[in-house]
Amino acid sequence: MTDTESDLLARIHMHGVVPRHVAIIMDGNGRWARERHMPRPFGHRSGMKAVRAVVEGCLEAGVKWLSLFAFSQENWQRPETEVSALMSLLEEFIAREASDLAAQGVCVHVHGDLDRLSPAAAAAVHRIRHETAHGARLGLNLFISYGGRAELVRAARLLAEDVQRGHLAPDAIDEQAFRSRLFTAGCPDPDLLIRTSGEQRLSNFLLWQIAYAELYISSVLWPDFDRAALYEALCDFQRRDRRFGNVST
Ligand code: FPP
Repeated sequence: MTDTESDLLARIHMHGVVPRHVAIIMDGNGRWARERHMPRPFGHRSGMKAVRAVVEGCLEAGVKWLSLFAFSQENWQRPETEVSALMSLLEEFIAREASDLAAQGVCVHVHGDLDRLSPAAAAAVHRIRHETAHGARLGLNLFISYGGRAELVRAARLLAEDVQRGHLAPDAIDEQAFRSRLFTAGCPDPDLLIRTSGEQRLSNFLLWQIAYAELYISSVLWPDFDRAALYEALCDFQRRDRRFGNVST
């Protein structure tokens, strides 16, 4: 850990308030590669290294849940070469990291329309879920082939099916019933949503869950987002006055 990182970490621990759940829209891999006159997959590969740094940063800081938007439903429209590079990276990430993540107490959950994954990618997902199932220090949600609206539609469909089967009365449909049918059932809502590369959009990520998340836009391109950048975001979070619609205490 660099001196800057350990100073920031000490500051975070001294303050004491740490977001329980951090969600990140990892953006800017393409621009990072273009700045280096390299093809886009080169940026994604460097982005994979940043994932490792941020997981470790969360473990050190005491964050309990980390959600990463790794591949959106819309990303399937990208050129076939880029889609297959991203899928290969996912497989490589799992092959390389699964046992270390398990040893560090990370439990990996993978969410999204996973039926669209290749058999090799689906097998990798199965492997990492299985290998890390007992991790209790950090829950790592990887969102792959994911869209927030599709997740809401899926939850509505599950509710309708339960009503149709007579398992649920329509007037028993409340926020809790809805929430329990989201991919993230059982996981607290994100306290902090970070988006890198300066873009100020939600891009269909966790639309229900981020209702009260604090937003932090970093101008850093994702491959350069390191522990220090994460800790800056956590320090910024500690300065926020979260009111949840109430008044300040
Ligand atoms: C957005 O940057 C990033 C993605 C679409 C992919 C994110 C993937 C990774 C960080 C690597 C793999 C991760 C795991 C967990 C294995 P962009 O391509 O839209 O960048 P641009 O806006 O600069 O073009």
